[in-house]
Amino acid sequence: MEVQLAKSAGFCFGVKRAVDKVYEQIETGKTIYTYGPIIHNEEVVSDLEQKGVQVINDKESLQKLIADWQCPEGGNVGGAVIIRSHGVPKEIQELIENSPLECIDATCPFVKRIHRIVEKESLAGKYIVIVGNPGHPEVEGIMGWCSGPMTVLETEGEAEKCVFPQGTEICIVSQTTFNYNKFQHIVAIFQEKGYNDSVVNTICNATEERQTEAREIAAKADAMIVIGGKHSSNTRKLYEICSAECANTYFIQTLDDLHLELPKAAILVGITAGASTPNKLIEEVQNYVRINF
Ligand code: F3S
Repeated sequence: MEVQLAKSAGFCFGVKRAVDKVYEQIETGKTIYTYGPIIHNEEVVSDLEQKGVQVINDKESLQKLIADWQCPEGGNVGGAVIIRSHGVPKEIQELIENSPLECIDATCPFVKRIHRIVEKESLAGKYIVIVGNPGHPEVEGIMGWCSGPMTVLETEGEAEKCVFPQGTEICIVSQTTFNYNKFQHIVAIFQEKGYNDSVVNTICNATEERQTEAREIAAKADAMIVIGGKHSSNTRKLYEICSAECANTYFIQTLDDLHLELPKAAILVGITAGASTPNKLIEEVQNYVRINF
């Protein structure tokens, strides 16, 4: 049996950069907070927790932290709030920047680019269409940089139903982890409606590459393993893509979930992993499959 590990599996540039920043900051001795878990991976988050990193989950908790903040006794190193790679709404960033805590912005530069686009296009009077999952923190962050009207949608059906007043200028952007083909279909729907639009493909290459490679491997594999956190939307999308190509596709979070019955006749087993999956875990899974099947 052959095991093929996708080259693009695991931490993308933005996640690696954010996680590295947290570990760097731990070394400074500051009291470290992250706004939301730094990545969608429970193991990494609990390792950071053990090292004293605290997670702030919402605006109210942030406001309370700022109101109650006292520099640790005798220390001059203070505290810092790290913004994770998904980014945050402008309001949250300003709250941190105007507080006694240091603001360390680990927003992925590709996400930051979307913030700048929607901010600028909103100011220019455009109606912003964000193609993505409205409940995802990255999308919530992007929404928070729009200063005018905007809408979030994620299906072709929603795009069909979307009607704007005559003459509305729209600007279409997408969540970085959105499926590329689906985005193209949604854009085509708006273009058929004849709106005066500007489209910026803000899907990150890391995602596109990971999805294309996963599809290619799954198409020829007898079994496919997708590793990632259950809350990670990009991992779920990988699973969706692989399942369409390979009926024996398995979604696992940790090595413990690997009580799989891989098909006995499997000749090729493919492995890929979402953007928040640490290398260590990918290697463990790869070794386990090589040894046990
Ligand atoms: Fe950034 Fe792309 Fe990763 S947007 S966080 S490098 S998936």
